Amino acid sequence: MSSHLIALHNGQNIPAIGLGTWQPKPNASEIARAVEHGLKAGYRHIDCAWFYGNEKAVGDGLLASGVPREDVFVTSKVWGTYHRRVEESLDQTLANLGTTYLDLYLVHWPVALNVNGNHPLMPMHPNGKFDIDESRDIRDTWKAMEAMVKKGKVKAIGASNFSQMMLEKILPTAEIIPAVNQLELHLYNPQLKLLDYLKSKKIVPQAYSPLGSTGAPLLTDESATEIAKKRGLKSTSDVLLGYLLTKDIVILPKSMSPSRIESNLTGALKAYNMLTPEDIKILDGVAAGGKQKRFTMPPWGIDLGFDNWPAPTKAPL
Ligand SMILES: NC(=O)c1ccc[n+]([C@@H]2O[C@H](COP(=O)([O-])OP(=O)(O)OC[C@H]3O[C@@H](n4cnc5c(N)ncnc54)[C@H](OP(=O)(O)O)[C@@H]3O)[C@@H](O)[C@H]2O)c1
Repeated sequence: MSSHLIALHNGQNIPAIGLGTWQPKPNASEIARAVEHGLKAGYRHIDCAWFYGNEKAVGDGLLASGVPREDVFVTSKVWGTYHRRVEESLDQTLANLGTTYLDLYLVHWPVALNVNGNHPLMPMHPNGKFDIDESRDIRDTWKAMEAMVKKGKVKAIGASNFSQMMLEKILPTAEIIPAVNQLELHLYNPQLKLLDYLKSKKIVPQAYSPLGSTGAPLLTDESATEIAKKRGLKSTSDVLLGYLLTKDIVILPKSMSPSRIESNLTGALKAYNMLTPEDIKILDGVAAGGKQKRFTMPPWGIDLGFDNWPAPTKAPL
């Protein structure tokens, strides 16, 4: 059972290990089976998003697991083309998942996209640049998120892919502080400065792509592999996941393989208990020592305020 919990500022507890569900290609039955298996194996936290097109499958998995809805922490996210229609998007999400509420609802990216563009998810200009809704103020999107808490449709709201600069746009007028910020966080992109800032604001960090995303490329890292051997851990993945847990980061490893779904849960907790301050010091230095790398960088064409993100090219409108 996933017993490791982290307190959110609103009094909720979030299970520190959640099952990620994003797939490069949709495969509904695989996702439903993974969610069912994950819940039967002890996960009590599932991360999904309207944009992934997988909410129905996640709902099927939830139902098939037999685990009561109230025992599972369910997160979904509003996509850029719905920043002006947050409640409409949330209602779709709730219907897809077959639930009356979410435990956590996130703004997927602080980037509003043109509702009337040439695509419902990824509207583009003819020149290939993203069709950004520049007149949509992120503070208004956040107000719409707050309204969902007030209506009782979600228990908590949070950010995703918000740099300090983007958080500082919403915090001065926010009635509800984001409970979390879901970010690309892993050995090669630890964002230590941003983590300090989040701590000072009582915003819990969540790590997406903790293994480096598709194909888990971080598994070949020499420092992490050496530490796994030294501590008698079964896999480098245990070190990658346990390392993030030692920083009070919620981790969201995704797997469709029953054995890896299980070993990510048990291995992460084992490593969390075994890693020493010396190991953590070594791991903290890996990115700074020349391995800094991001795997997810949509070419939005606007400055999101992140370190280690290639200079944006402003989309000519
Ligand atoms: N907010 C956002 O913008 C955002 C962006 C990206 C992701 N996310 C969320 O974060 C979750 C996790 O991120 P992610 O899916 O990008 O990447 P990830 O969890 O770092 O890695 C997933 C990959 O690692 C493999 N894998 C998993 N466990 C393994 C293990 N123990 N040994 C070897 N390989 C293993 C998986 O393959 P198998 O399935 O074959 O095991 C898959 O190819 C997503 O699913 C999604 O829920 C959010």
